[in-house]
Amino acid sequence: MKKPIKAVIATLWLATGAAGAADQAGCTIAGYDMPPNVCASHTRTIASTCFICHGPNGKSQAAIPPLAGRDKAELLAALQDFRDGKREATVMQKYVKGYSDSEYEDLADYFSAIK
Ligand code: HEC
Repeated sequence: MKKPIKAVIATLWLATGAAGAADQAGCTIAGYDMPPNVCASHTRTIASTCFICHGPNGKSQAAIPPLAGRDKAELLAALQDFRDGKREATVMQKYVKGYSDSEYEDLADYFSAIK
């Protein structure tokens, strides 16, 4: 049986490493449940705001730590600890407040998938 074209595109997309497993699921943006295609581009948009400090594609070469290729669980824990005020920070406690659980997860997934 032929695979539906959408499944083929999704497979190619995942094979490029451009999207992580979390993009398969929906996400919550500002209180609204969104479908996977919206989530994938939304994640790239918010991730690009991180590039300002963490370097292009999260590959900082300066004092602010790089995010690219780091362990997903470690990145997610750091974001949640900043959000919950459990981890000291100059910037991040203020910066990461207000995202949904799925946005934290998708950000951690996005940066850990960068080679
Ligand atoms: C205005 C600059 C700035 C922006 C924008 C920014 N960060 Fe940060 N980030 C920092 C600084 C500075 C630290 C070190 C902790 C601190 O002092 O806040 C940090 C630390 C972190 C850490 C912990 C890294 C480690 O190795 O301990 C993670 C994870 C992180 N940021 C993720 C993100 C994500 C994801 C975004 C985008 C949603 C983002 N940051 C946007 C400045 C920034």
